[in-house]
Amino acid sequence: MASVATVTRALLGKNVLNKCKVVSATSQASIKFYSTASYENIKVEVVGSKKNVGLIQLNRPKALNALCKPLFVELGKAVNDFDADSNIAAIIITGNEKAFAAGADIKEMQNNTYSSNTKQGFLREWEDISNCGKPIIAAVNGFALGGGCELAMLCDIIYAGEKAKFGQPEINIGTIPGAGGTQRLPRYVGKSKAMEIVLTGNFFDAHEAEKMGLVSKVFPVEKLLEETIKLAERIGTHSPLIVKLAKQAVNQAYETTLKSGLQFEKSTFYGTFATVSLIFAFYTPKSLNESSSYITFVTIFYSSELKVLGLHVYLQNSCYLLQHNPIFG
Ligand code: CAA
Repeated sequence: MASVATVTRALLGKNVLNKCKVVSATSQASIKFYSTASYENIKVEVVGSKKNVGLIQLNRPKALNALCKPLFVELGKAVNDFDADSNIAAIIITGNEKAFAAGADIKEMQNNTYSSNTKQGFLREWEDISNCGKPIIAAVNGFALGGGCELAMLCDIIYAGEKAKFGQPEINIGTIPGAGGTQRLPRYVGKSKAMEIVLTGNFFDAHEAEKMGLVSKVFPVEKLLEETIKLAERIGTHSPLIVKLAKQAVNQAYETTLKSGLQFEKSTFYGTFATVSLIFAFYTPKSLNESSSYITFVTIFYSSELKVLGLHVYLQNSCYLLQHNPIFG
């Protein structure tokens, strides 16, 4: 009978090997699939050393990446495609050094009316971004104004280059933020800051954005994308299912009361124990030393990263937990 260590090594080796095969067999196909030929307003690429990060670059530089409808239709499609692709772990949305996005396209919307907005569901395409199950990271250099700031806030994490400028300047053109600015901003930075930003239309820089909690980290301009890809790759080392559940649980905090949010969290947490992300290895010890001959069965719990989470040791009719990880606390 093999020892626990042998079983563990065999299991680790098998899974790691399988994983490597999958990556190498599919990465080539992914690159071809995400040809940007069909897009006019965005560029799409698969990046990262394991080719598991979907990169979307907004690409209307002459208009400072103003978010016209065709751009948003393309963005929604690219996000949906990456969301549906099991090789992709996380998605990055970025712009260029001058602008992430300078807002909704003012020229496109200047003839809109209340009636046309209502009939056509103006900005309806934006919902594709918030419906994405995978983590989306905004890498913001330059202007993130109006709809640009709102697009960044639709993402799950915002990293910024040190010259980034944020703001909700809609008030300057006689309107208000219309893609979440009045609702998400107060939840992320608090009421007083949000009111100040929305009522003045003033811009604020990356370091202020970081201080108020809107942005999680600030980098030199030229390092931003590299660091954002590293973050996406780090997320990609975890179980995709658990990442999705964790994202849903955090987002629930913005949708509900504390009590129902905690209930949602608890049931999701319990649910993780029923997922295939916990890998079990079973071992019936016959060759352990004499003193442990009353051990009838051992179950080893692995995370999807193949870390040992814990051991169940069955001693005749009793089961004891040897705790290796707080998940079993
Ligand atoms: N929509 C359409 N075009 C835009 C744009 C926008 N939001 N922002 C900039 N552009 C265009 C400009 O018209 C200009 O194009 P042309 O060369 O063809 O005239 C080009 O981008 C470069 O812009 P500037 O010459 O103005 O560049 P700048 O460096 O002098 O100023 C800026 C940069 C401060 C960002 C300035 O362009 C600006 O204030 N833009 C508008 C920002 C804004 O008000 N955003 C909110 C839009 S409303 C909204 O987003 C509603 C919502 O909540 C969904």
